[in-house]
Amino acid sequence: MCGIVGIVGKEHSEQIIINGLQRLEYRGYDSAGLFVSDGKQEHLIKSQGRIKNLQEKVSDDVNGTIGIGHTRWATHGKPSEENAHPHTSQNGKLLLVHNGVIENFDELSQDYLADETFYGQTDTEIVVNLIASFMENDSLSTKAAFQKALTVIHGSYAFALVNQEDPETIYVAKNKSPLLIGLGDGFNVIASDALAVLDQTHEFVEIADNELVTVTADNVIIENQAGQTVQRDSYKAQLDASDIEKGTYPFYMLKEIDEQPTVMRKLTQEYRDDHGKVNIDLNLVNEMADSDRIYIVACGTSYNAGWAAKSLIETVTQIPVEVQLSSEFGYNMPLLSKKPFFIFLTQSGETADSRQVLVQINQLGFPSLTITNVAGSTLSREAKYTLLLHAGPEIAVASTKAYTAQIAMLAILTQAIGERNKTNTSFDAFYELSIAAAGMEAMVDEKERLSSLVEQYLSTTRNAFYIGRGNDYHVASEAALKLKEISYVQAEGFAAGELKHGTIALIEEGTPVLGIITDAKTGPHTRGNLKEVESRGANTIVIASEDLAREDDQVILPKVHPLLTSLVAVVPTQLIAYYVSMQRGYDVDKPRNLAKSVTVE
Ligand code: M6R
Repeated sequence: MCGIVGIVGKEHSEQIIINGLQRLEYRGYDSAGLFVSDGKQEHLIKSQGRIKNLQEKVSDDVNGTIGIGHTRWATHGKPSEENAHPHTSQNGKLLLVHNGVIENFDELSQDYLADETFYGQTDTEIVVNLIASFMENDSLSTKAAFQKALTVIHGSYAFALVNQEDPETIYVAKNKSPLLIGLGDGFNVIASDALAVLDQTHEFVEIADNELVTVTADNVIIENQAGQTVQRDSYKAQLDASDIEKGTYPFYMLKEIDEQPTVMRKLTQEYRDDHGKVNIDLNLVNEMADSDRIYIVACGTSYNAGWAAKSLIETVTQIPVEVQLSSEFGYNMPLLSKKPFFIFLTQSGETADSRQVLVQINQLGFPSLTITNVAGSTLSREAKYTLLLHAGPEIAVASTKAYTAQIAMLAILTQAIGERNKTNTSFDAFYELSIAAAGMEAMVDEKERLSSLVEQYLSTTRNAFYIGRGNDYHVASEAALKLKEISYVQAEGFAAGELKHGTIALIEEGTPVLGIITDAKTGPHTRGNLKEVESRGANTIVIASEDLAREDDQVILPKVHPLLTSLVAVVPTQLIAYYVSMQRGYDVDKPRNLAKSVTVE
């Protein structure tokens, strides 16, 4: 959600910024802009829509040696050029880009800027004018005025500020929103995500909330709120620019679906020791094993992954598990057990809804674990423990490999707890994941078949249902989310038995209903429910495990451990969503209105 790139000390900063913004496109945006200067000539360029529109406006004579750029996902004010960042102060001196939401911007505007009129509707425009007013009225330097503004601003932000009269310095600060400094030889960069500037540097320095950082070509000075200098070591990003290339794939989503078997094997390598045992911090294992209830807190696909892992964790560890939506849990906290343990499932590690729960859990003093794909992300830094998914960057907005990696990670963790508590007698996560990986491989090879299934049943439909029972219901929920977010088909994931209690009224001639069947106990009932909708005109498609499949079932899933069926069952549903979107000519990786990391509540 919004992206920032900036650089100081290198020629053609405009091109470096555009390249960086392109790599941040996955975060979701609807307009973009940049400011560059070479000390003599300044250029402020903005455009609505894609980065290529911005690129087209950058003429050959532009050559900045300092610059800041931004992709905007509209929160305050519609997507438009005037609302695009950078925003300029009314005296024309200051340029500001901002990610996040300033909660008290109305009050700030009334208290400090009552006489001013603004050209747009954004909270950012208020902030840049606030800083300018502190400079003018209190005779403060840029840095001091920025520092003062930070003391009165409430909300989430990552800011990058440039004063045109000092075209050698970028001032940055963050609170809750991600921002990193990248160190170069004779130049320095800033970015919302290391991926954006990996072609410039692999060496990064983290910024903590409420610090103010002064970045010049040769220096990075970090100061805390009290103005004291903070020393912080840099680290090398364990990422390669090739990790974010699409290669021969038309879309990242397809590449990421295909990567899933490899991710299963990678996770096994990362968390298995030389003796075949689980290699996870024992303090974490003991603390979880001693808890009386595990709360999984997450949003979207990560929430669905939590549900898909619930019965696995409960069966192997005998500890009850609750799965909670972050955006609800934080504001309506249920009665907690006496010894709870909290797991935050989050691909990005930046989701604001989940973070607000973690802040409360930390205040309450309960132990927490973040399972995330992004090392150094906010939720990973703020939880007591972190386990990384090692899935490689997930660029497509629709999450695929993070979902299956989260379930696999929980399977490995679960085994360690089950062993510690002696509740696990037979579940061998590493063996079962290797079987699941082979099964997923077989499923990703079914592309042609799934593509023609989509052509036959889903090419023009406006709505669709996925149904299943137990774990199959949880996969149905994820399958429906995938379908609606990238193909705009109104899809519902339904508990198969519940359909006849109302929703069956929506079934019409030709409505596609996809049934997932991987459980011998509930399979016959789901088949019965499919018959009910079929006799009301629905086109039914059955996705069934090979041991439960019938001759005319359309998708046959390889047999895997009964607690891990979601790992294989989800793959054809990801591919179905992909083909519906692709066949309708949509931008599969960047669906409308969505952002990859949702950094506002
Ligand atoms: O980064 P997170 O896992 O915390 O993100 C949670 C959701 O925003 C995310 O899963 C979203 O639902 C995806 N677009 C689903 O594909």
